[in-house]
Amino acid sequence: METVLSGIRSTGNLHLGNYYGALRNFVRLQESHRCFFFIADLHSLTTHPKAADFHGSVLQILAEYLASGLDPEKCALYVQSDIPEISEMYVLLNMLAYVGELERTASFKEKVRKHPQNVNAGLLTYPVLMATDILIHRAHKVPVGKDQEQHLEITRAYARRFNNLYGAALFPEPDAYNFGGELIKIPGLDGSGKMGKSEGNGIFLTDDEAAIRRKVKKAVTDAGEKTDAMSEPVKNLFTIMSAVSTPEVLNFYKQAHAAGAIRYGDMKNQLADDICKVTLPIRARILDMLQNARYLQKVRKNGAEKARESAAATLLEMKKLMGFKAIEN
Ligand code: TYM
Repeated sequence: METVLSGIRSTGNLHLGNYYGALRNFVRLQESHRCFFFIADLHSLTTHPKAADFHGSVLQILAEYLASGLDPEKCALYVQSDIPEISEMYVLLNMLAYVGELERTASFKEKVRKHPQNVNAGLLTYPVLMATDILIHRAHKVPVGKDQEQHLEITRAYARRFNNLYGAALFPEPDAYNFGGELIKIPGLDGSGKMGKSEGNGIFLTDDEAAIRRKVKKAVTDAGEKTDAMSEPVKNLFTIMSAVSTPEVLNFYKQAHAAGAIRYGDMKNQLADDICKVTLPIRARILDMLQNARYLQKVRKNGAEKARESAAATLLEMKKLMGFKAIEN
């Protein structure tokens, strides 16, 4: 059976981009694969979150995973830092990671541009830690959004490099995966770019109906004149609609747009209705889950046990291949 693995950083609440790019795939894949899903708290440290807030968001995201349909009986659901084997393997994998390669990573270059005052080594080796997450369970499929594609390429390179260097077939080469085929990027409501946690352009799974309607109403569009090419902001609204609405609804508005007869107010009302249908039931379950701190802790503990067993087995194999010898009694 193929192994599936994916994670989401612990900073901020989950938005529609996380849901359609990643989480919805997790929920489907847990039915038919050996699955590992986790909350990447170590990765979140690159931005120096306040200690007092740091782990509050971990439990919040755990509740959001569960409310979205992840079943801890069907997958290993864990917190990255609960698996110390990950930090150990990260040290080993760093020896195979070339600095030039890491400096050329698109996500690193973007971070350097946006936050020149905080270019820490953890940011540079972010893809090494991510490759460790994946390789430590010898995963085959990694459900992620389009923005993570390059990280998967790097992960495959490390898997090949290790196997070649030590003459072994320890690591499979994992592929990025999306159920519908192509990896996707859900755009923001601000007319350009992708929906993100900190961009202020997102709909969160925890948003209430009023917030959703207000945000969609304010989404950027254009003057609605008949043109051959669709403007970027309108294309983005259609992309969101293609995720949340039925094909009939999508076609109706596409035809209206092509005929120059579209009323963006109507389209936005429909879009808000369809987003609410998806997210409000999840929101209700999130609020419920958060009431049950003891259950969340139990899920976290059981998930860590499952994940550690698998991680320790890979780490042991890896260290044997590299020539480490255990203490002899
Ligand atoms: P993160 O936390 O930024 O995002 C989590 C997942 O959501 C996807 N995503 C999107 N998909 C489509 N449209 C969007 N607007 C959008 N925004 C986010 C991301 O592609 C991702 O799949 N480095 C990772 C976390 C991570 C990880 C891993 C993932 C750490 N280790 C190992 C997979 C495997 C990250 O920062 O994702």
